[in-house]
This record gives sequence, C-alpha cells and structure tokens, in this order.
Amino acid sequence: MQASGAKGIMVGGASGMCRATAELFVRRGGKVAILDRPQSEGAAVADRLGGTFHPCDVVDYAGMERVIEEAADALGGVHFCVNTAGAGVATRTLSKEGEMHPLDTFHGVVQLNLVASFNINRVAAKLMARNEPNEAGERGVMINTASIAAFEGQIGQVAYAAAKAGIAGMTLTMARDLGLFGIRVMTIAPSLFDTGLTRGIPADLEQRLVKDAAFPRRMGQPEEFATMALAIFDCPMMNGSVIRVDGGQRFAPR
Ligand SMILES: NC(=O)c1ccc[n+]([C@@H]2O[C@H](COP(=O)([O-])OP(=O)(O)OC[C@H]3O[C@@H](n4cnc5c(N)ncnc54)[C@H](O)[C@@H]3O)[C@@H](O)[C@H]2O)c1
Repeated sequence: MQASGAKGIMVGGASGMCRATAELFVRRGGKVAILDRPQSEGAAVADRLGGTFHPCDVVDYAGMERVIEEAADALGGVHFCVNTAGAGVATRTLSKEGEMHPLDTFHGVVQLNLVASFNINRVAAKLMARNEPNEAGERGVMINTASIAAFEGQIGQVAYAAAKAGIAGMTLTMARDLGLFGIRVMTIAPSLFDTGLTRGIPADLEQRLVKDAAFPRRMGQPEEFATMALAIFDCPMMNGSVIRVDGGQRFAPR
C-alpha cells in the first residue's frame, strides 16, 4: 500500500520503535493516531506529528476496542496498525532456591504481549474490512512485534519467549483468515534495540548481549525497525511471515 494519504494506528507509538514508525509513516504522507499509556509522551508525539493521542492500556481489552474505534474515527479510517506495546519478566521456571515461576506472572506476560496483540488485531481487522480496497485489492496491513527470544529465549525468559512465540505462531493463520478481506499480517522479531525498554541496560551488559551478532554488532536503532515496517506496508507480497531484524544475532542461553 502507499503511505501517502493512508491512516495508521500506532499502539506504543509514544516511544521507541513504534514512534519511529509513526514518524516515518508521516514523513511518507500518512496520518497517525498514537495509542499509548496515559503517562507516556503520546500527547507530545501526536502533536508533533499532527496526529491525535488516545491514552490506553492494552490489557484493558474492552477499553482497547473503544479506543481503537475512537482513533479510527479521528483518522477517518485505518489502513496500518502497528503494535509494539509489550514487556517481559526475568524469572526462571524453577529458581536456584527451588521456587516455581509464579503462574500469575506467566499469565500476565502472555496477556500483555499475546492476548493484547490479538485483541488489537481483531478490532483493527474489523475496521480495515470496511475500507474500499485499493486497485490491488488491499484494505490494510497489521504488524505485531515479537522478539528473537521467540526462537531462542534466554534463561529467565520463559514467559516472554512463550508469549512472543505465540505472536509469531498466529501470524500466518491470521493472514490466512484475513486474506479474503485483502488485509495482510506480519510480525517483526527484533534483537536488542535502543529504545525506552532497554534504556537502563549498562554498557557492559549491552556488549555481552550483542556479542553474537554477525554484523552490525550493536543495538538496533528504532529507525531500522521503522524502515522494515514501511517496507512491509509498501510490498503486497509481504504477508504471513515473521521477519527477524537482528544483524544475524542468535541469543546464547545467557
Ligand atoms: N527494545 C528491544 O530490545 C526489544 C527487542 C525485542 C523485542 N522488543 C519488543 O518491542 C516492544 C517494546 O518496544 P520498544 O522497544 O520500542 O520500547 P519502548 O518502551 O520505547 O516503547 C514501548 C511503548 O509501549 C507502551 N506500552 C507498554 N505497555 C503498554 C500498555 N500496557 N498499554 C499501552 N501502551 C503500553 C510504552 O508506554 C511505550 O511507549 C515490546 O513488545 C518488546 O517485547 C523490544
């Protein structure tokens, strides 16, 4: 699809990779609504990009449905839905002291990353299905965010790896479900990126975390995620896949 004149809902758009995607989409002529937590910088980002801000919490599933509809109303439709809201915990299945991973923590990580993504997708799909298709029959594009931990989670990432693997796993099936509407679904799996989420990581740990990359051996930049997201939006043949954006990195066990 062409970004020019298209409408994008950016969940997590106040910061990091989704903010960079919103910025690039607007530079290419699109219009955005920023959806993020009330305490985020969403209002300032939306203001700067000439868009609207819609405070939300992605785990408030019913509230999210309402907020996405409000955002689409403000935009006058939705063709692009990018979602990066998510996080993990550092807890082993069984700690060295023999304590089991609490189930509520596991559940919480799955709800925040996987269930919330699916909820956002189903609401966005309902709205995109109302679009007039373009000349190629396309009505919209959705991008979710996994992690390379979906494929090689490190020690202590069991909940996060499971949730992100769920996002990766639903990608092709959802693309097949939505193919008849001309809606594409893709997932990006980043390695370590320099965003709000990783701001507190000390330099020596950062060096250890990127040491197994092929090239470049550094954190990714949010703009590099945005470049991939826009390439997906542009290219009708990108559908049903998970794309690693990782400099050839494979996480070691720790
Ligand atoms: N940064 C990395 O190294 C990295 C690597 C792999 C995957 N990821 C994934 O990327 C996403 C994080 O994006 P980022 O790295 O740009 O971080 P970021 O913190 O800069 O941006 C994430 C945005 O999501 C928002 N958000 C978080 N929880 C939310 C909620 N419950 N409701 C609404 N908004 C919420 C935050 O307020 C923030 O603005 C996560 O899904 C994470 O698992 C990040």
